[in-house]
Amino acid sequence: MNRNIVCIGAGYIGGPTMAVIAKMNPDRKVMVVDINAERIAAWNSEDYSLPIYEPGLVDVVKEVRGRNLFFSTDIEGAVKECDIIFVGVNTPTKMFGRGAGRASDLQYWEATAREIKRFAECDKIVVEKSTLPVRTAAAMEAILNGERIPRAKRVAQGDALAGVGSGISFTVLSNPEFLAEGTAIKDLLEPDRVLIGGPQTDAGAKAIQAVVDIYATWVPQERILTTNVWSAELTKLAANAFLAQRVSSINAIAGLCEATGADVDEVARVIGADGRIGPKFLKAGPGFGGSCFKKDVLNLVYLCESFGLHTAAEYWMGVIRMNQHQQERIVSRLFAAMFNTLANKKIALFGFAFKADTGDTRETPAGTVARLLAEEHVRVTITDPKALVNARRDLADLSDVTYEEDEYKAAEGADAVILMTDWRHYPTLDWNRIYDSMRKPALVFDTRNCLAAAELRKIGFRVLNVGK
Ligand SMILES: NC(=O)c1ccc[n+]([C@@H]2O[C@H](COP(=O)([O-])OP(=O)(O)OC[C@H]3O[C@@H](n4cnc5c(N)ncnc54)[C@H](O)[C@@H]3O)[C@@H](O)[C@H]2O)c1
Repeated sequence: MNRNIVCIGAGYIGGPTMAVIAKMNPDRKVMVVDINAERIAAWNSEDYSLPIYEPGLVDVVKEVRGRNLFFSTDIEGAVKECDIIFVGVNTPTKMFGRGAGRASDLQYWEATAREIKRFAECDKIVVEKSTLPVRTAAAMEAILNGERIPRAKRVAQGDALAGVGSGISFTVLSNPEFLAEGTAIKDLLEPDRVLIGGPQTDAGAKAIQAVVDIYATWVPQERILTTNVWSAELTKLAANAFLAQRVSSINAIAGLCEATGADVDEVARVIGADGRIGPKFLKAGPGFGGSCFKKDVLNLVYLCESFGLHTAAEYWMGVIRMNQHQQERIVSRLFAAMFNTLANKKIALFGFAFKADTGDTRETPAGTVARLLAEEHVRVTITDPKALVNARRDLADLSDVTYEEDEYKAAEGADAVILMTDWRHYPTLDWNRIYDSMRKPALVFDTRNCLAAAELRKIGFRVLNVGK
């Protein structure tokens, strides 16, 4: 077995993860392959216009690309060349048939497993990097190890898959990724923990050790946690569900704060001072977005239902409902504050990415708010330093939306600014200048509670916050 590594799937997970693995393992060849040629071309672009924005990523790619990190569309060649195969393909929520709207769509993952089986010529360790429903590894094992047709027979039959099958053994591990977009490089370099789950067999133990060795070059031993494969698969879903649940919990309190005169930031500060609770992920706001939380919680709901755990399914479904409600509440409050009519008013959305420091707009709360405003016939203008390309694509079906790189131009003539993403420079903008260019009365809805509300009020703005 050789030490080369390939990751199938060159997305938000595959690219940064393998870049850091290559950086920290200069003696290993690391390949990242994808069926999307455009994406691979961007990873290989001479001017480093990478397909995703992530602070610090370009520097790592500059250091390792062409040294021991290679991006390619040659999946067959990479599978043949590497004995450790990470799979980081997308696993979106299934939108059709059984489990529609909740279960994971595993078609990309299964297609990848079949490709690995087709191309492999010797034993392989297959590592699930994608987030998958618990027990997916069993399905993978069945696909990979299931049908062992002797090579000689395949050759005799002129089988297109001749040359594979006989005696090749695949060990499937789960190594879910806990990085967060926006801090991916830091999270990869200094992870709270790395989780590797595998079968409790000799082959499983050897495979786990092979993957531990990759991380042990920079992650302290005590942070590399090993479990059985089912625990690893379930832990990733459970961890995201816990994080999402904290966001929904504080947002549920935010509504009560608005109704009673309490201040959610004060409440959160004091709740978080309890060592049992801790201060992180207690920030009220527009609700969570991103490609993972909603999808993974829905997946957990589906799993609970599948195992007859209906009360648990309901419990987790509440986390999603609360999140959706939060965005509806933003528009309802705006509606009330703007004299119960929004038609033909201009509203500028400051920020469209689902959080700061990323251009990712998957499941972004700003998308939901933009659509709710469009239903009210608002003239929406969107500004964002990194996400305008994705915003244009996401809202292509809406005609009354314009896109503006410059925040000052976006606010010109607007009745309201809704701050949706906590980009660091927004509080430092010249809000006097913004106020002067807006229609009066000018309103700012700061859904991230990151602007100096008292200062804005002094300028003349009407100000709305979440949870105050
Ligand atoms: N984005 C995150 O922050 C994050 C964090 C933790 C876990 N994850 C998980 O990682 C997985 C990937 O997420 P992502 O955000 O990187 O998705 P992504 O859509 O950005 O990337 C997936 C890539 O896989 C490629 N692909 C699909 N089928 C393929 C095939 N058969 N062969 C080769 N390539 C194929 C796609 O072309 C795409 O480029 C998901 O399961 C997700 O839940 C994501």
